[in-house]
Amino acid sequence: MSNLLNRRNWLKNTTLATGATAFLGKSVLSDVNWRASSPSPSMNFWEWELVRKRTFPELKARLLANENPYGPSPKAKEVIKDAVSLGNRYGHEDAAILIEMLAEKEGVTKDHIMLGPGSSDLLEKVAISRFMTDGNIVSADPAYMSLIKTAKAMQAEWRPIPLKSDYSHDLEAMEAAIDSKTKLVYICNPNNPTGTITAGNKLSDFCNRVSERVPIFIDEAYLEFMNPADKMSMI
Ligand SMILES: Cc1ncc(COP(=O)(O)O)c(C=O)c1O
Repeated sequence: MSNLLNRRNWLKNTTLATGATAFLGKSVLSDVNWRASSPSPSMNFWEWELVRKRTFPELKARLLANENPYGPSPKAKEVIKDAVSLGNRYGHEDAAILIEMLAEKEGVTKDHIMLGPGSSDLLEKVAISRFMTDGNIVSADPAYMSLIKTAKAMQAEWRPIPLKSDYSHDLEAMEAAIDSKTKLVYICNPNNPTGTITAGNKLSDFCNRVSERVPIFIDEAYLEFMNPADKMSMI
């Protein structure tokens, strides 16, 4: 690879995406109605901010958000600072290089990789493309709601399956909930908001069997944080 991806160019694109999000958040602030004083996990980010400002002291760690309480590393800050001067350039070539690197790392072809500015964007795109016409989505309850909320906004029916008593996925009940109108099964492993793990071998059996009938989306946003013994990607 002659034109190596460097972190400076990569972070440049991330910075641009963050700028867009901040702009959107600001424009909707005026529409927010005050809710009860305790924050709920289903609140949007701008609502959390308003509630926090009104009710809570300055917090180092907001445990209802998956944030790094220590802030960006000094090295990352340095790279972001450098990247600002390249903010006038599109990052398509860097994206193409990153796709090649990821495909090689995961042992798949390039057409299996889709990039996004964070995974929420990709979760929502999957929901929009799967649920253009009616259908249902099967997932655990509770689960991370971004994809599910978008599916519901597309008029999909959500079939929530309660987690088991150890907070793992009830794979048997999820399979039983699938019917001819099911267009996606969504599984988050480790799960959010419980942080619990569904055993990799059970999940892989489930995927091998059930994906013959319906696509399964495994959200592995937190896979890197797992103990090596538990870590098993479904890719
Ligand atoms: C399971 C899971 N998937 C995806 C996301 C979205 O992450 P991102 O910040 O990359 O959009 C989150 C964020 O909390 C999450 O918990």
